Amino acid sequence: MSILVGVLSQKGGVGKSMVARLLATEYVRIGWNTLIADMDGSQSTSSEWSQRRNQQEIKPSVDVKEFSMVGNVLVLKKDYDIIIFDGAPHSTLVTKEIAENSDLIVLPTGSSLDDLNPQIRLAHELVDSGIDSSKVVFLLSRVGNSEVELNDVIDYINQTGYTLLKGYIPEKTAFRLAIREGRSLTETRYSGLTEKCESVAQSVADKIHELTN
Ligand SMILES: Nc1ncnc2c1ncn2[C@@H]1O[C@H](COP(=O)(O)OP(=O)(O)O)[C@@H](O)[C@H]1O
Ligand SMILES: [Mg+2]
Repeated sequence: MSILVGVLSQKGGVGKSMVARLLATEYVRIGWNTLIADMDGSQSTSSEWSQRRNQQEIKPSVDVKEFSMVGNVLVLKKDYDIIIFDGAPHSTLVTKEIAENSDLIVLPTGSSLDDLNPQIRLAHELVDSGIDSSKVVFLLSRVGNSEVELNDVIDYINQTGYTLLKGYIPEKTAFRLAIREGRSLTETRYSGLTEKCESVAQSVADKIHELTN
């Protein structure tokens, strides 16, 4: 039986696909049988990324499949150790269904209020619909280089009472270039960036461990 992780937002561009690919590559690397369920059929970004990865023969290869219905993912639970949903923006129903079935719900957010407030509203909606709030975590992605702004965002999220995972993914052109080549966030040539993203992935893994053991 697999662990299910939903990387969700109702809005595009917050870094869901980046985070899903980061988590997937790190889990594949430690030997887990891993699937990214790409629920964003209109964009297929993770599916196309995986094709580029295979074309470039980048190892380890990461299994990505496209789905429109959550039920079609759930039947694959027996085949994988972990399934990471790369969420469907703009679909409240699919987002809720992913959340209901996930052991952990990761809400990536940038540092602007335009990213943060919709994610906080989504967290509230999920909890109001019966999701356990301890399963809902925020993850800082696409963070600029202002420490003042970073500290403000951390305070802002902490005030909501939801868990904010340790670490953050900075906004870097190097990440976009890596993705273009079929690489993941821990596969740029900059060791400082790799360390930052490895520690973000570790925060997620620690949370998964805490919730599932
Ligand atoms: N940390 C980052 N640094 C630089 N570019 C990023 C970063 N995270 C995401 N992007 C870019 O921003 C866009 C949206 O990211 P993506 O992960 O596709 O978001 P979502 O899946 O939530 O729509 C993509 O073009 C992606 O390459
Ligand atoms: Mg996406």
